[in-house]
Amino acid sequence: MKKVEAIIRGKDFDRVNRALKQVGIVPLTAYPVQGRGIQGGVPPYDMLPKMKIEVVVKDSDVKKVVDVIIRNARSGTPGDGKIFIVPVEDAIRIRTGERGNKALY
Ligand SMILES: Nc1ncnc2c1ncn2[C@@H]1O[C@H](COP(=O)(O)OP(=O)(O)OP(=O)(O)O)[C@@H](O)[C@H]1O
Ligand SMILES: [Mg+2]
Repeated sequence: MKKVEAIIRGKDFDRVNRALKQVGIVPLTAYPVQGRGIQGGVPPYDMLPKMKIEVVVKDSDVKKVVDVIIRNARSGTPGDGKIFIVPVEDAIRIRTGERGNKALY
């Protein structure tokens, strides 16, 4: 399992969110964040608002998810965002006790 963490522009969130659902990636977590990339923000503020999506997926879905995010969030200009892929040791659905891939979706 991997956690795909994507920090994207707020204006792209609806599109990315809908596209993920469309390819069968339904459960996810999303929240507003503040951050900066290599440009260091825009003076006098060094933090810019973005949206963050976190979705834990089975290894075989990582490429699909990354492709969907890029396709719906890339404008080709600085600030399009970034994706981090993080190993996840286990997942547990509280209601049933299912673990691993079976607990995801
Ligand atoms: N190395 C990092 N660690 C943690 N968060 C990061 C990192 N790089 C970028 N971010 C987060 O991602 C957001 C978007 O980054 P951004 O798209 O500006 O990346 P970048 O590396 O500056 O690329 P670009 O040149 O395309 O702008 C930042 O506002 C920040 O929240
Ligand atoms: Mg940047």
